[in-house]
Amino acid sequence: MSETSHTIYTPPADLVATAHVSGFAAYEALCKEAEADYGAYWGRLARELISWKKPFTQTLDDSQAPFFKWFADGTLNVSYNCLDRNVERGLGNKTAIIFEADGGEVTKVSYSQLLAKVCQIANGLRSLGVKKGDRVVIYIAMSIDGVAAMQACARIGAIHSVVFGGFSAQSLRDRINDTGAVAVITADCQVRGGKQLPLKAIVDEALALGGCESIQNVLVVKRGGNAISMTEGRDKWMADVADAQPTTCEPEWVEAEHPLFLLYTSGSTGKPKGVQHSSGGYLLHAALTTKWTFDLKADDVFWCTADIGWVTGHSYITYGPLALGGTEIVFEGVPTYPDAGRFWKMIQDHKVSIFYTAPTAIRSLIKAAEANDAVHPKSYDLSSLRILGSVGEPINPAAWEWYHKHVGGGRCPIVDTFWQTETGGHMITPLPGATPLVPGSCTLPFPGITTAIVDETGNDVPNGQGGILVVKKPWPSMIRTIWGDNERFVKSYYPAELKGYYLAGDGAIRDEKTGYFTITGRIDDVLNVSGHRMGTMEIESALVSHTELVAEAAVVGRPDDTTGEAICAFVVLKRPRPTGDEAKAIAKILRDHVGKEIGPIAKPKDIRFGDNLPKTRSGKIMRRLLRSIAKGEAITQDTSTLENPAILDQLSENN
Ligand code: PRX
Repeated sequence: MSETSHTIYTPPADLVATAHVSGFAAYEALCKEAEADYGAYWGRLARELISWKKPFTQTLDDSQAPFFKWFADGTLNVSYNCLDRNVERGLGNKTAIIFEADGGEVTKVSYSQLLAKVCQIANGLRSLGVKKGDRVVIYIAMSIDGVAAMQACARIGAIHSVVFGGFSAQSLRDRINDTGAVAVITADCQVRGGKQLPLKAIVDEALALGGCESIQNVLVVKRGGNAISMTEGRDKWMADVADAQPTTCEPEWVEAEHPLFLLYTSGSTGKPKGVQHSSGGYLLHAALTTKWTFDLKADDVFWCTADIGWVTGHSYITYGPLALGGTEIVFEGVPTYPDAGRFWKMIQDHKVSIFYTAPTAIRSLIKAAEANDAVHPKSYDLSSLRILGSVGEPINPAAWEWYHKHVGGGRCPIVDTFWQTETGGHMITPLPGATPLVPGSCTLPFPGITTAIVDETGNDVPNGQGGILVVKKPWPSMIRTIWGDNERFVKSYYPAELKGYYLAGDGAIRDEKTGYFTITGRIDDVLNVSGHRMGTMEIESALVSHTELVAEAAVVGRPDDTTGEAICAFVVLKRPRPTGDEAKAIAKILRDHVGKEIGPIAKPKDIRFGDNLPKTRSGKIMRRLLRSIAKGEAITQDTSTLENPAILDQLSENN
């Protein structure tokens, strides 16, 4: 459970004076406009923010709910909107991306240069036969090439699916297989924290696992120059495919509902879901939220520290800021290399004015700063900052206050943005020149977004009483379906008992007086570790896939000071329960195994062995008891239905 504090921070007057949404009354007016005529509101914004090749005549089509369509008879191209349009309005020489490599080298590209690069890659993809509707998997680190590859797919109507560079060969294989992709775009390696880590070699491994027969081409960007193997006929250097191509490329004009991308995320069952996003509705919300939540202006330097492998990187690196003609930072490295002052130094060096990061990063940097003045924000000039943001997990009031005081110098509003891979963009968030802030609360819905808190039958619950977070009306950037699985989409997000509301999967509570929202955490079997979503069943499947050692496994989360939640696994082995050094050795084997199956981010922090797991007489694992044990709490719950009570003591022992 996260808490809120009671201190209220009103928006600074100079910001209110110039903000895109200026003052609380302006926020309320937008909400009212949306309420009065929902379709007209979104239609107005879609015309203002997007250039349409063929204008739409209808905003929302709900005739096949919950498969909603937005702006369906309009056509557009997302890459045209992010690049050509900016060049056409005179921003060709403006810096689009300031890239800082892990080692500190800086490369800048202007809008004209980025457009040329995207066109060359798009032409290269076309020359290989990649066409509208084909899926392209992108497995690459933070780079201009990564952003350009995504934009190039958008340009030709290919559907990209970016797989975070920390995922294992097995996870990559599963995603390639599910998308049926025709090509993979990768690099020879990625560089993080001074180390080269393989990428192409992992692609090779993934493809060798089988089930990826749809892949015809693997395009490799040169990053480290490390030795890699190239399979004749399949693998090509990106430079050989793209560099000789023309620097112009006619965009593929697609219908607004044409899928822009698929992005896999964890749900409460073992298999990650391919969240499908549209072109028109998605771009509208990515652009609009960048404009209003971050108040992006022409001379801002915007920095979102997320990876392009996550939705935050899609909406607030690849699409939103570019759609508005902004200047943004793309950072290859990690916040702690060469030291924990890296973020502060980069803000100082590039005069960053809007900074958007995750609570986990802030919490770990607080620890480092408190131990060493040299990496404390006070040792840097952060006066360029005007707005701070937080995303991915609840930010606890203590971290919020520190961020506000030490990073923002007490002058910068913090926008605590609640949203999800499925929502495409911000859902509940302050607007910096309008909304008074309360640390620990994501405050109020974005104008036009109809979030509410209901009970299990979809009835509104009063403020002050927690419940299930839903969104009552469809919105333009919402998930369209789960790739290839309409039924799972309906079951996961539109359960029959919720009256046609979108189920977010989070619990929330509204403040009695202000109506401000606080997210209280997931209500399904999904954990949030360092802002990364992990399904407990996915980790359990990975553990039991070690068939030689593991008989049974149950995974739960427990609170963690730095990572928000930590993964705790209870494991029954196929051999007698180990203790001492043997237990440590087996725990390491299993951790590495999960790392190999899913990726290092899924490695359990804690692994405990038992002769059995706490189960009801009907054989159901009692996870609530495991959660208490993981937290180190005394068991106070009712254990009368438990078949084997003695197991609780055994699992509580640290082995
Ligand atoms: O539990 C909520 C949490 O992260 C989940 C969404 O994760 P993902 O799809 O990976 O997207 C992360 C980036 C948007 C949500 O269901 N979450 C996200 N933002 C917040 C949050 N919890 C509390 N406060 C937030 N600001």
